[in-house]
Amino acid sequence: MTKGHVPTPPKLAERVVAAVFDQHPPRADDRVLYPGCGTGPFAAAVERVCDEMGLPLPEGVGVDTDPELIDEVKQRDLAHTEFHQRDVLDCGTLSDQSFDYILGNPPYVPIERLSSEEKDRYRSQFQTATGRFDLYLLFFERAVQLLSDGGVLSFVTPEKFEYVGAAEALRQLLTTEGQTVETIRHIEQDAFGELITFPAVTTVRRASSESEPETRIELRDGTTHSVVLPDNGESWASTVRGANLEGMETGVTLSDVTERISPGLATGADSVYVLQREEVPEQVDEQWRRPTVGGSQLPAFRPTETEKLFVCPYDSSGNLATESELGTTATWLSEYSASLESRSCVEKGKRWYAWHETPPMDDVLQPKILFRDIAKEPVFYSEPTGEVVPKHSVYYAVPEQNVSMADLLDYLNSPQVRAWLEANCQRAHNGYYRLQSRVLSELPVPTELASTYQATL
Ligand SMILES: C[S@@+](CC[C@H](N)C(=O)[O-])C[C@H]1O[C@@H](n2cnc3c(N)ncnc32)[C@H](O)[C@@H]1O
Repeated sequence: MTKGHVPTPPKLAERVVAAVFDQHPPRADDRVLYPGCGTGPFAAAVERVCDEMGLPLPEGVGVDTDPELIDEVKQRDLAHTEFHQRDVLDCGTLSDQSFDYILGNPPYVPIERLSSEEKDRYRSQFQTATGRFDLYLLFFERAVQLLSDGGVLSFVTPEKFEYVGAAEALRQLLTTEGQTVETIRHIEQDAFGELITFPAVTTVRRASSESEPETRIELRDGTTHSVVLPDNGESWASTVRGANLEGMETGVTLSDVTERISPGLATGADSVYVLQREEVPEQVDEQWRRPTVGGSQLPAFRPTETEKLFVCPYDSSGNLATESELGTTATWLSEYSASLESRSCVEKGKRWYAWHETPPMDDVLQPKILFRDIAKEPVFYSEPTGEVVPKHSVYYAVPEQNVSMADLLDYLNSPQVRAWLEANCQRAHNGYYRLQSRVLSELPVPTELASTYQATL
């Protein structure tokens, strides 16, 4: 199957081309490359736009790895362009050429869909092939290499290269001396139907700017502003959204729509209380086992199949069971009594098998949203079963009863919230964000989310 063929709607291709040619009108001897040209929407858009704007047609080269698409596009009457079946990411291809324009919609192919051979080859040839990279990042890098001096590239891609860790090297590349990110336009979410979430059109010019290079930003709500993007690879999210973050204020915050936002449970001895699911001894009765999850397991989190279980000596109201209620579970715990007794909470008067912190089970055993206490890229996960007792490294937020969990989760994982968190959370030394409840409580939430809740007050 073709890698990442998501056709661009003709009107969108036309908007991309018109915006580029409006700022940088072509001459007849200019050359334009359509990388991953598919069935040619950008080449067709160039012909229409040049015709409408009374501009000369540049010379085009369209390349795609898919022979069927190349056959198809050759049938179209796109006379200014020659089409070839070529691999743009093969650094030998086109290496003796340069282009004044590079226009397109590169393939979005996550690393999971690449073979080991492809991953190795890309990692050795592209500086942007780091971490969990995606092919469109490499298309950006290749396009920058193929631009002539003063040349312009404009790509439609997911906007997340602005902030994901895997695109750090690309952000650095696009902001090094010699390149200017001229514009980033966040286009309508439905520009590709359901296919791409949060698309953006990014235009980069190969030219040094004398002063600090400014980037014009257009956001989905129609506001525009100019920014200087960070040039050290750090996320652009809060810079790109800048003034727009103020527009998030609604007077309603996350604390208004949740019953609790807290770190998970501290036992003071996770090495005793947390066990691999398959290693829990029979002595620990079912009644005292609770599924749990720690920060590092969250990315693969499945609420009904957590890897780990807590040995939890508390009942579902949060009362510590007596030793006789615990029975063989207490016998098993007593094997570790020396280390359990040495915990500071026991010195301060707690029972030898109590947890460091008494779990507020009424809240914990609710459907909830989980997130890491410290993260490079904040992600929020759904825990709809209400059975998982999170470890201390995982925060949990319990939505008020009438707040839609799905809507709240979508909102929390939106780029706008990402930008807000980046602007407001404390930074750890390694560039990670601390998602403390104090800060999260202040997160503005849309009134629609709160209205279902308020309507029932
Ligand atoms: C997202 S689609 C866009 C197609 C077309 N540009 C459009 O806008 O409708 C990406 C295209 O890139 C092509 N492609 C994927 N990997 C490629 C590579 N390494 N070199 C050239 N083309 C590639 C796919 O076959 C696909 O047609």
